[in-house]
Amino acid sequence: MVQVVFVAADGSRRDVDVAAGTSVMQAAILNNVNGIVGECGGAAMCATCHVYIDPEFAQKVPPRSEIEEVMLEATASEADDRSRLGCQIVLGDELDGLTVHLPPAQY
Ligand code: FES
Repeated sequence: MVQVVFVAADGSRRDVDVAAGTSVMQAAILNNVNGIVGECGGAAMCATCHVYIDPEFAQKVPPRSEIEEVMLEATASEADDRSRLGCQIVLGDELDGLTVHLPPAQY
């Protein structure tokens, strides 16, 4: 199992454990974490799974793909250097304890 920590815009925190191979978006949906929608089901087409990666993990996540770069221009909350699509981050042991911050809005 891999642990993911979701920190909401109000500072509240949820720790969830999911199987390796699960995306950050799926981890949120499977555990009813508010603040991630995942409208397109993980196809990198909606940007409603926008998260900000905690700086501690910035070097551990794989780089953004081209489509991800494009979709991050269409987020409801402003994207920055920490921004990623949660559906494009697949959790493995190397990301155990990954902390992501949720934006104030996904629409
Ligand atoms: S779930 Fe739609 S872009 Fe990630």
